Amino acid sequence: MKGIFITFEGIDGCGKSTQCELLKDYLKDNNKDFIFVREPGGTVIGERIREILLDKKNTQMNSRTELLLFEAARAQITEEVIKPALEEGKIVLCDRFFDSSSAYQGMARNMGMDFVAGLNMAATGGLKPDVTFFFDITVEEALARRGKRGEASDRIELAGIKFQEDVRKGYLELAKESDGRIVTVDASRGVEEIFEDIKETLKGKI
Ligand code: TYD
Repeated sequence: MKGIFITFEGIDGCGKSTQCELLKDYLKDNNKDFIFVREPGGTVIGERIREILLDKKNTQMNSRTELLLFEAARAQITEEVIKPALEEGKIVLCDRFFDSSSAYQGMARNMGMDFVAGLNMAATGGLKPDVTFFFDITVEEALARRGKRGEASDRIELAGIKFQEDVRKGYLELAKESDGRIVTVDASRGVEEIFEDIKETLKGKI
């Protein structure tokens, strides 16, 4: 593929959305050809799946159902949006991709990281990000930030502190085993400082 595929990962409230916005502005200012998408969602079908996944009323959702819905949304966005954009040589920014399923469903929902890795492969046909930024922050700090923003929690965010701790554990394990694809960023620092790290990592790549 000719383009470059960059993904953003971390627990809820880690500040990745702010960094996505900064990178989008930076790419715009530098006249780069890019697209930005988010998971779950990013396609008409994917946004409908997203509604089911995040709906607080769906308290009875089984973990396997949840995992397969995330993977279904992923299969759609990969074929419909990400692969064609990469073929055209574009930079693709994706707010969450398959590492989210490994950390949230594989680790935190106890479905097994290896089991999820197989389904990730099935959903993406083997497509992997070139660079993944993991915004690492403690659960306490992330909660404090979200509290400040006064955001309403969705179904996944309502799963609790222990759940978020496990998600973080999952990401740390993925980062350790990623052969350099996953770049861990200390997300407890200031917004500008973090963004400098991102630009540094992407230097020569974009
Ligand atoms: P979203 O509002 O997009 O959260 P954020 O801004 O933190 O990215 O909601 C996505 C939620 O779904 C979030 O809690 C993470 C969770 N999620 C999974 O559990 N598995 C997945 O594979 C993906 C993509 C997201």
